[in-house]
Amino acid sequence: MIRDAEAAMGSEPTRVRYDRLAPFYDLLEWLPERGSFGRWRRKLWEHLPSGRVIEVGVGTGKNMPHYPNDASITAVDISPRMLQRAVRRAGRLGLQVDLRLMDAQALAFPDASFDAAAATFVFCSIPDPVLGLRELARVVRPGGQVLLLEHMRAEHPLLGRIMDWLDPIVARILGAHISRRTLENVRAAGLVIEEVEDLAPMGMVRLIKARTPKPGT
Ligand SMILES: C[S@@+](CC[C@H](N)C(=O)[O-])C[C@H]1O[C@@H](n2cnc3c(N)ncnc32)[C@H](O)[C@@H]1O
Repeated sequence: MIRDAEAAMGSEPTRVRYDRLAPFYDLLEWLPERGSFGRWRRKLWEHLPSGRVIEVGVGTGKNMPHYPNDASITAVDISPRMLQRAVRRAGRLGLQVDLRLMDAQALAFPDASFDAAAATFVFCSIPDPVLGLRELARVVRPGGQVLLLEHMRAEHPLLGRIMDWLDPIVARILGAHISRRTLENVRAAGLVIEEVEDLAPMGMVRLIKARTPKPGT
């Protein structure tokens, strides 16, 4: 089980991969950012309430232009080099963002520290996605929103199997797993899914609107 082995190794290989990718990351996604990626990011952030919001896997800060004006944002990433770029982007945009070097699988915040959480294209690369999602469920207050924009394994049986086969190769090169079953992972972490919007064919990119469970539910 390659995935289990990776989870057991912890976040170090992921950090190394993203540190290596950081100088090229924005360039690699320059074209889709001008089209669908940019549109999808806007859609996610439009749904977020004001208040205390955590973004995990902030990367180079591509979501920053969409942050709501009235939210207080904390953003974390495991890769120092990605985070350096996020710091520079926040500066250029004149944003006050609390940026921290931190593993999303072990967030250094007390329970219920935030009103909401967001992540975009992150749970494909976190070594143990269920652990990371459980951490989000812990740090967001009961009934708070968790919004995820993620690519995942295709619903189509043959394409899904091809993605399973290619997954370890793509993960090694780009740091992202292409065949994660993210909806199942969100449920396994104890989050309550409210709505799933398919943004690409065969469920390969989805906007997932979930909430942390309220006590007694
Ligand atoms: C594909 S990039 C997405 C970056 C950004 N969210 C975006 O939409 O452009 C994945 C990011 O997740 C970060 N990441 C991966 N595993 C992580 C972990 N365990 N804790 C925190 N960040 C992590 C990587 O360093 C990288 O910046």
